[in-house]
Amino acid sequence: MAKATLATPVELRLARRMARLGTETAFEVLVRARALEAKGRDVVHMEIGEPDFDTPSNIIEAATDALHKGWTHYGPSAGLPALREALAEEISRTRKVPVKAEEVVVVPGGKPIIFFTIMALVDEGDEVIYPNPGFPIYESMINFVGGKAVPIRLREKMDFRLDVDELRSLINDRTRFIILNSPQNPTGGVLTRKDVEAIAAAIGDREIMVLSDEIYSRLIYEGEHFSLMSVDGFKDRTILLDGFSKTYAMTGWRLGYGVMRPDLATHVARLMTNSVSCTASFTQVAGLEGLRGQQESVDVMREEFRRRRDRFVERINQIKGFSCRLPKGAFYTFPNITGTGWPSKKLADALLEDAGVAALSGTAFGEFGEGYLRFSVANSLENIDKALDRIEGWVKKNL
Ligand SMILES: Cc1ncc(COP(=O)(O)O)c(C=O)c1O
Repeated sequence: MAKATLATPVELRLARRMARLGTETAFEVLVRARALEAKGRDVVHMEIGEPDFDTPSNIIEAATDALHKGWTHYGPSAGLPALREALAEEISRTRKVPVKAEEVVVVPGGKPIIFFTIMALVDEGDEVIYPNPGFPIYESMINFVGGKAVPIRLREKMDFRLDVDELRSLINDRTRFIILNSPQNPTGGVLTRKDVEAIAAAIGDREIMVLSDEIYSRLIYEGEHFSLMSVDGFKDRTILLDGFSKTYAMTGWRLGYGVMRPDLATHVARLMTNSVSCTASFTQVAGLEGLRGQQESVDVMREEFRRRRDRFVERINQIKGFSCRLPKGAFYTFPNITGTGWPSKKLADALLEDAGVAALSGTAFGEFGEGYLRFSVANSLENIDKALDRIEGWVKKNL
């Protein structure tokens, strides 16, 4: 039989929508840092957006036990009933609003809630207001579905809380969706209860759905977490995103969830059926242990992050060209670097290549991130000091 041979290689023709899909630079910087390490260089990793702690052992034991007991099969697309029930109780208690299990959808990580709810709710041409600087996946997904991405600038002078007057001025008849994130990545900004209530008042009775990304809700150093879902009349218009990645140091397990009205939950579950079928069953059993078991490890981790944050901010403020506010939540610091006279990306590259310190350019989080770098404090105090010594040395030589 004659074999068909191709005279020229077949050109890959991607669907047009792929040109609109963005990415998350953190992963790329990690690859570059690892490449330097492979060449024998020593790099302090401050680019990473995940706790450097191990998952608590009670959760690991629950997972291995679940594997031995046969939790190795497909489960329901919306999540195991017992976990949905436990999450409904948890959210009812912490957000002080009654939530039922049918309003919870368990997904592999917090990210799919961003993907699925934007897919489900944003049509071409719909306007979506999102924080900038902010988690890059928001803008990427809005563009991917053909929505119009409308950034709301988070300003340093407001401790990176959003300006509600500005939000009000951006809302119009085409606004279909708003994204909030508190505590915030990359700035560590935290919305106060007053802020959230003012945001609710600015939205008023418009038919706008709000994605409230609360993945860092348990990592707050000052004040209290307050959710839009807790505001009277906003339960039906809020999609609450939270998960296990940051709270229980479970980033690699892929376990998160969304809380939303049941008629939307059905559609998000259908997107699950169409994509990944379900979240891994044994992971969900382990998540149940995370929720119901000891919580001291969460407190220990938060207090350790607080110590590191304090050290980093105190020392970076003594380095020429850098100035940094004290972030109130998450495990990121977002120093202003305009005093160095260097653009963010160039400075991040130089610190990686010349000083062996991996950080992210503020521009990895959108155009309004120019003038800033993001340093994650998910690294030991010793390594944080090492990074600061190196930055200090670099600045002395180059500025
Ligand atoms: C603001 C924000 N939302 C969502 C996520 C996604 O979390 P997960 O790893 O659980 O998908 C992250 C992760 O960095 C984040 O920073």
